[in-house]
Amino acid sequence: YGDATQKIDYVFKVVLIGDSAVGKSQILARFARNEFSLESKATIGVEFQSLTIVIQHKSVKAQIWDTAGQERYRAVTSAYYRGAVGAMLVYDITKRHSFDHIPRWLEELRSHADKNIVVILIGNKTDLEDQRAVPTEDAKEFAQKEGLFFLETSALEATNVETAFLTVLTEIF
Ligand code: GTP
Ligand code: MG
Repeated sequence: YGDATQKIDYVFKVVLIGDSAVGKSQILARFARNEFSLESKATIGVEFQSLTIVIQHKSVKAQIWDTAGQERYRAVTSAYYRGAVGAMLVYDITKRHSFDHIPRWLEELRSHADKNIVVILIGNKTDLEDQRAVPTEDAKEFAQKEGLFFLETSALEATNVETAFLTVLTEIF
């Protein structure tokens, strides 16, 4: 199977969740392939990408699952969360409603996922600072209250995307 010298020590499933159009698929494209597209289409069902990274001298295969934010395109929820050890809860810093929906996503996550799942809250699109609708402090406070990691990212500018994944994967580890 592929490179025989590559031994996988761990496989970690991480799920992306959040409203439609917050940038989940582009965050994944940036991390997995260093790509970005402004013409990203809404995800239908589930897509996933695997990549192997080295953490503390162990190879970790990260299996990142990306689903539709739109209800009508979503796959079976329980299957999506099954076995996930990490979750990235994404909102768009320019869309207040995407942040206001975070408690609902968190509720869904907590009712379907393992209780020890590592969760990071991500405010995406920091390149659109002039359209910001969610103050960093609000999100930071919410994350603290809920015991979540927190970072702001830009998939477009590649800001903090790798850090966000590494934060989750290292913490799982
Ligand atoms: P669903 O699949 O419908 O749940 O949406 P999604 O969360 O996967 O959003 P997607 O990644 O498809 O991005 C939606 C739109 O936002 C696309 O036009 C992207 O190009 C754009 N976008 C994503 N990330 C960024 C970013 O960091 N900055 C800017 N300016 N636009 C972004
Ligand atoms: Mg998508």
